Amino acid sequence: MLAIDGLNTYYGDSHILRGVSLSLAKGTALGLLGRNGMGKTTLIRSLMGYVRAASGKVAWNGADVTGAPPERMARLGLGYVPEGRGIFPNLSVRENLVMAARAGTDGRRDWTYERVLATFPRLTERLGHGGQQLSGGEQQMLSIGRALMTNPQLLILDEATEGLAPLIVAEIWRVIASIRETGISTLIVDRDYRKVLAHTDRAVVLEKGQIVLDGESAALARDHDALTRWLGV
Ligand SMILES: Nc1ncnc2c1ncn2[C@@H]1O[C@H](COP(=O)(O)OP(=O)(O)O)[C@@H](O)[C@H]1O
Ligand SMILES: [Mg+2]
Repeated sequence: MLAIDGLNTYYGDSHILRGVSLSLAKGTALGLLGRNGMGKTTLIRSLMGYVRAASGKVAWNGADVTGAPPERMARLGLGYVPEGRGIFPNLSVRENLVMAARAGTDGRRDWTYERVLATFPRLTERLGHGGQQLSGGEQQMLSIGRALMTNPQLLILDEATEGLAPLIVAEIWRVIASIRETGISTLIVDRDYRKVLAHTDRAVVLEKGQIVLDGESAALARDHDALTRWLGV
């Protein structure tokens, strides 16, 4: 479904992504691991069209989408929950959700307003509140809810549990598992590598902008040498 080939991305003179290639099959979950500053967010931003890659290709369902802007990537079925939460602080919870609503690329409307609220009951009690009045956990749920309202084929989660209380973190992982069961593919970045490996089929490790490991998540979870070497755990 997604194929990234030889991506190079710079911020000014800094060469951040150095020939990154990876693929993601429909219906599967891919973990993206690597220490802080290794290029995970840059890879996602390059893929989504927020940052222009200097070279390399991105293919989506067989079509070349290299350099496509974020709006086009979203319309093509890529849902994105950015690091630091992408909600509209001045709009209410209800408005944030309703304005994101869209059928999937194949016309599916599996994720409706009602279903998102059923998934995140906390949001139901906050419908009239502004985005900025929500707790960190509620903002994160709203951000995930917004992405689901677009009925994506692929949901990209960048540090979705960062800075949240343990109970909220557990709730978010439960939701990620239930989203996966509905057939949506996922690309997951999270500091908790154990959780990432437990919730994905395959994982890749980024080290200074290069992929140094690409394999089955279950196998990597048992590979203590690799985990120590690449993640410092
Ligand atoms: N907007 C930016 N301008 C310049 N350098 C950046 C910018 N964003 C990130 N970087 C640098 O790019 C590298 C990769 O960052 P990032 O992709 O955010 O890593 P990760 O998500 O793996 O923590 C880091 O060295 C970071 O300092
Ligand atoms: Mg990051």
